[in-house]
Amino acid sequence: AEHVESDLSHVLFTKEEIAQKIQELAEQIDRDYEGRDVLLVGVLKGAVMVMADLTRALKGQYPMDWMAVSSYGSGTKSSGVVRILKDLDTDLHGKDVLIVEDIIDSGLTLSWLRTNLESRGPKSVEICALLRKPDAAKTAIDVKYVGWDIPNEFVVGYGLDFAEHYRNLECIATLAPHVYE
Ligand code: PRP
Ligand code: MN
Ligand code: MG
Repeated sequence: AEHVESDLSHVLFTKEEIAQKIQELAEQIDRDYEGRDVLLVGVLKGAVMVMADLTRALKGQYPMDWMAVSSYGSGTKSSGVVRILKDLDTDLHGKDVLIVEDIIDSGLTLSWLRTNLESRGPKSVEICALLRKPDAAKTAIDVKYVGWDIPNEFVVGYGLDFAEHYRNLECIATLAPHVYE
């Protein structure tokens, strides 16, 4: 494996800033969901880091399940085509579902996913996304928990990939143009 420092342009959020933000989100979620029958739904693969750290920052017990959907392929642009690659194992009837995502870019993935999950009889469906790109939105989505709004630049790290690389970075950073040009 190659070292990645020279592939990065600038760091948007450090490991410490991310940890602080995750802690804040966890406190809000613990408050809002106390006493409810919650299911956290992580969206593979980007949400793995957010889910891993968020669930350990939460004080309550929150079962988690996973879906794999994909709209990107290997490029940097959303195709708008959403495919289910792996479905949930859990029945959603009566559950307060909280979808956990790394980023909302065009919003097409989550918009489709929310509608899909809402059709399965849950009590509620809300969204927690660490990042959101308001300038890239192609559809309006009501997101209950957002870590940060960021400019419309391609970012990697903390679960976010470019062609499956850089997910393991502890920070979130923009990619140097030489990587994708
Ligand atoms: C990325 C990201 C979100 C989605 C956001 O996933 O993790 O799930 O794109 O894009 P959108 O708002 O334009 O729909 P991707 O499809 O790259 O799969 P991955 O999580 O496996 O990287
Ligand atoms: Mn994803
Ligand atoms: Mg991706």
